[in-house]
Amino acid sequence: MKSVTLSTLQAYKHAGETFSCLTAYDASFARTIAEAGIEVMLVGDSLGMVLQGHTSTLPVTLDDICYHTRCVAGAKGASLLMADLPFMSNATTERMLNDAAELMRAGAEMVKVEGEAWMADGIREMTRRGVPVCAHLGLTPQTVYQLGGYKVQGRDAERAEQILADARTLVDAGASVILLECVPASLGKIITEALDVPVIGIGAGPDTDGQILVMHDVLGVTHGRTPRFVKNFMAETDDIAGAFRRYHEDVKARRFPAEEHSF
Ligand code: KIV
Ligand code: NA
Repeated sequence: MKSVTLSTLQAYKHAGETFSCLTAYDASFARTIAEAGIEVMLVGDSLGMVLQGHTSTLPVTLDDICYHTRCVAGAKGASLLMADLPFMSNATTERMLNDAAELMRAGAEMVKVEGEAWMADGIREMTRRGVPVCAHLGLTPQTVYQLGGYKVQGRDAERAEQILADARTLVDAGASVILLECVPASLGKIITEALDVPVIGIGAGPDTDGQILVMHDVLGVTHGRTPRFVKNFMAETDDIAGAFRRYHEDVKARRFPAEEHSF
């Protein structure tokens, strides 16, 4: 497979073709994910929960993400490698720039940052310096304590308008990709159609340009309450490589997510 780049994702968007994304944290799984044809790998700060056992992503440090990015970078194959800026990396533009530099040095090809329209300056400066940015909107797990829990965002018209406006502002500032987490499928569709950049969804309905899940959830290694948008692809196969392939094929064919996975 040819290496996936930002241009590949843009071409998918313009062709109306979907793409699949999955989190990855180490070399062995990264290799298996790449072999399944999954276009984007994310070293997510979800590692705080699935690897470190915390109940939120807030304890995750820049060093943690850099370590796992280095683990994945050598095994990512043709997939595009994105890494998360951790909690408070967005405190100032200078901090965002420095932290993004560390992630890129560790092997990231794009950074993802959570926040709203107020991040426009930071995103503009990162983009100017050659760092492609994905802006993560909707349910932003780093603000879980402010949000009062992991809840669907944008069910009411006012918040939905705000998420759309934030997305437009951040794309104008330079964001190359938008990620929407836990928003109604109707809002996922509106934002995807309104923007000229690829939109990746998790719990954002079937109409976003790309889909992403946490690797552990795809493999059924989910403890506690399983979110509605998750699907255990191991239930339909008996090996891990097969589960990744099935996930990729179901996203490409728009069989996943189904209505039962959407809000
Ligand atoms: O950290 C993560 O894994 C994420 C995805 C769930 C989008 O941000
Ligand atoms: Na994350």
